[in-house]
Amino acid sequence: MTSDLLSDLAAQIPELLLKTEAADLEFYGRDWTRRWKPAPLAIALPSSVEQVQAIVRWAKAQAVSIVPSGGRTGLSGGAVAAQGELVLSLERMNRVLGFDAHDRILTVQAGMTLEAVHGAAREHGLIYPVDFAARGSCSIGGNIATNAGGIRVIRYGNTRNWIAGLRVVSGDGELLELNRGLVKNSSGYDFRQLMIGSEGTLGIVVEAQLWLTDPPPESNVMLLALPSFESLMQVFGHLRARLSLSAFEFLTDVALKHVVAHGAQAPFADTYPYYVVTEFDAESPSQQEAALGAFEVLLEQGLVCDGVIAQSDAQAAALWRLREGITESLARHLPYKNDIAVRIGAMPAFLAEAQVLLTQAYPHFEVVWFGHIGDGNLHINVLKPTTMDNADFVHECSRVTELLAKLLHQHGGSISAEHGIGLVKKPYLASTRSETEIGMMRAIRQALDPAGTLNPGKLFDRDNTATQGETP
Ligand code: FAD
Ligand code: MLT
Ligand code: ZN
Repeated sequence: MTSDLLSDLAAQIPELLLKTEAADLEFYGRDWTRRWKPAPLAIALPSSVEQVQAIVRWAKAQAVSIVPSGGRTGLSGGAVAAQGELVLSLERMNRVLGFDAHDRILTVQAGMTLEAVHGAAREHGLIYPVDFAARGSCSIGGNIATNAGGIRVIRYGNTRNWIAGLRVVSGDGELLELNRGLVKNSSGYDFRQLMIGSEGTLGIVVEAQLWLTDPPPESNVMLLALPSFESLMQVFGHLRARLSLSAFEFLTDVALKHVVAHGAQAPFADTYPYYVVTEFDAESPSQQEAALGAFEVLLEQGLVCDGVIAQSDAQAAALWRLREGITESLARHLPYKNDIAVRIGAMPAFLAEAQVLLTQAYPHFEVVWFGHIGDGNLHINVLKPTTMDNADFVHECSRVTELLAKLLHQHGGSISAEHGIGLVKKPYLASTRSETEIGMMRAIRQALDPAGTLNPGKLFDRDNTATQGETP
């Protein structure tokens, strides 16, 4: 049956590169969640938009499901293929297609890595400002499909802000040209924005037009040690009022312990409960003095206990590593990841309750807090004890996520800030989106992908009966 299907696909699209080796199925069938056993039908690696269209048409006709696949750095199981799906990897479609200096638009194929996009922008003296630690492996198509955030959202916003246009293949195999780089376009529904964050369920992004912007002024990085969680938002308010911040990230002593164990350099002789890595404009002497002044006031007020301002690019990179290295340092512990958001104004009240809830809920697990606190986005990672079975661990954590989801609902927050819903957060979607909204999302999905070819089982189920979800 499988070999008949694949022979048919190969016959229909003779130039298509297909991979079916066991190692390939394993490699392309999973993402960073490592929770589901990969079991794809095969991996299709198209090299053109026409091939993508032909694959989608073939899959629709044969009732084969497609999992769109970028760098598989996703943390929600969105790119997992565990049910005999055809993985459609965009990795060979990784070229720059053009640059328009008038509009400052870079047109790229969806499989380009974020890092390669950064490099291409620099060649024109500009930047593409979305950035985060997975830059070397994640693809721009995956970033668009998850509306990725990252470390400079407080200045530049999410991926959504930088997409001038998209070319997308729908579930019918039609090629949609969405927005075409227009700054202003009040001509009805904006399908470009609908595609952003749709996690491969509405269409396959094949090309993107990206707005670029001016490089930022010279900046510097400061690491602060804090005595308490309560001081975090106060420090943020203080610095934001005095400096021009491009990043404000936090981590706990537990997170620092793991990054240091993974090879980073401990920043201070003593340890403190909380740390902030913040980046600020430091082009002029007055900006540098303002940073020093702000730090001294915070020290006097007891809101920070210690701090260091980078004296070189190498030191700035070392300070960033303390924050950016966390995910990799935790990976071997198979962390259960929470990626939550509340409004910045709601953060103190939410935190007070969340801390009580999680301390009671997880007395036996190591819990690692870090994240983009300046955006109201916390990553709460629970580490699996080595002796515990993964299914039991996920079951236990899921129970707590239900309580967390209720708390988030009360505080007007979201169960996913930037990683997406995928399989991991699917059971909790209703804590953030109303029944009416989910019903409308179903109707939209039905319209764009009538046969249910694209990433079925991800984000929500078409028929409201869960088939795949939290449990491995
Ligand atoms: P994949 O994992 O391959 O796919 C993600 C989803 O997008 C899936 O649903 C997939 O089906 C869909 N998809 C992929 N390509 C396409 C396409 N061309 N068309 C349609 N759908 C598609 N995320 C953040 O937001 N902020 C961070 O700071 C951040 N830091 C990270 C750090 C590390 C070390 C790691 C491992 C991950 C991090 N992530 C972060 C998560 C992840 O990198 C992002 O979600 C990223 O956008 C995923 O891109 P990808 O190409 O790997 O997508
Ligand atoms: C991060 O902010 O480091 C990423 O979102 C990755 C993670 O949450 O592990
Ligand atoms: Zn993050």
